[in-house]
Amino acid sequence: MKSYRVAMLGCRSRGTSAARAYHAHPRIQVVGLCDLVQERLDTLGDELGVSTRFADLDEMIRQTQPDLVAIPTGTEFHYPLAMRVLEHGVNIEVEKPMCTDLAEADEVLAKAQAQGVRVAVHHQGRVGGSMRTMARAYAEGRIGKLRYIYASDKGYYGGYGLMNIGVHLLNYVIKFAGHCRSLTATALTAGHLITPEDVIPSANGMGTIAGENITATLQHDDNVTTNLLLHRFPVVDSTASGIQLFGTEGRMIWRSPGIWWLPTPHFLPDEEHGNWQALEEEAPDHYDPNGPANLDDYWFAEEWVRALDEGRDHEASGIEGRHVMEIMMGVFESAAYGTRIHLPQTQRDHPLVRWRREHGLGDPAPMPRPYYDWLAAEDHRLGRTTS
Ligand SMILES: NC(=O)c1ccc[n+]([C@@H]2O[C@H](COP(=O)([O-])OP(=O)(O)OC[C@H]3O[C@@H](n4cnc5c(N)ncnc54)[C@H](O)[C@@H]3O)[C@@H](O)[C@H]2O)c1
Repeated sequence: MKSYRVAMLGCRSRGTSAARAYHAHPRIQVVGLCDLVQERLDTLGDELGVSTRFADLDEMIRQTQPDLVAIPTGTEFHYPLAMRVLEHGVNIEVEKPMCTDLAEADEVLAKAQAQGVRVAVHHQGRVGGSMRTMARAYAEGRIGKLRYIYASDKGYYGGYGLMNIGVHLLNYVIKFAGHCRSLTATALTAGHLITPEDVIPSANGMGTIAGENITATLQHDDNVTTNLLLHRFPVVDSTASGIQLFGTEGRMIWRSPGIWWLPTPHFLPDEEHGNWQALEEEAPDHYDPNGPANLDDYWFAEEWVRALDEGRDHEASGIEGRHVMEIMMGVFESAAYGTRIHLPQTQRDHPLVRWRREHGLGDPAPMPRPYYDWLAAEDHRLGRTTS
């Protein structure tokens, strides 16, 4: 059986997690590591026993001849690095979100197509243990026919939550409901509908955002709709994030730390109608639950092996990643202009940047990169703090 060669461009948090999963997979070899910071290269290289370490990505690709280059770097670097790596005619994966606007995502996909290679976005949950379990239960007919999905994030500032966590949730949503055809969204900042002055740079380099509390309604095919909530809570709480599927015969919920099935579509859980039942997360039989690899990252690696074996795209492909970006940009556009947005949109520039320009405003003032410093700056802009 062929084994695949993976090179890592970025060796900090996400690079380490992905590299551990690739390293643990029996049919994948981590053949090279690249980082600008020597200490990170050495820490990961020593852990995995990989001695081919580089500061220059072009050199790494030339010397190691990988099948796939993973790009787990800050979001603002996904586009330039993806374009540079694609010059080598190699498959790529970028961390999520794919890029910061649709024009960038289009260029990455066009370049990959011209080079005859594949793109995936590291939405590991899309192919992970929980979503596989839900997909199997759905295929078995446990909730009947899907009619509605509810999704909510962890309580980040809404626009940032959309780019950071909404991007994962939307991938789960389209796994079950298919692509989004149109949407509407309402975004509030400090209790008022957003204005062009509320358009600000995202924390952590995720482009341009707006809205402290965002509520969006998505229309899919086959009578299915989704409500997506990105509301700022006083405290960010992972257990608030999840999706719930409502079918004609039951409901299913995924929320950290598990998946539950309720065999009744409307009623409260009770003895007559049934109670919530926990479903077990699926894992590949060669996965070691006591090893260092995260299960969803491991599934993501396994899906690469299956996709490359079968000569097809990864399920979390660039096309899917771009569609999620179309939804996210559509949410911003609908909230800004107060209109229904039909997807895919023909205007591919960032709608919030366009909106500001139309109101005679230039680029918003820079803000801190780390989330909590950024949040403090935003609270200050909104007059909530004086210092
Ligand atoms: N999939 C998930 O569950 C998940 C979770 C958290 C974050 N993310 C995403 O991961 C990304 C951030 O990952 P991170 O926190 O590990 O990023 P990071 O910025 O902390 O680390 C990136 C590493 O890449 C290196 N690097 C950057 N440019 C380089 C270049 N040109 N050549 C060589 N090395 C270079 C940096 O030195 C750094 O060590 C974001 O896009 C974020 O949205 C995904």
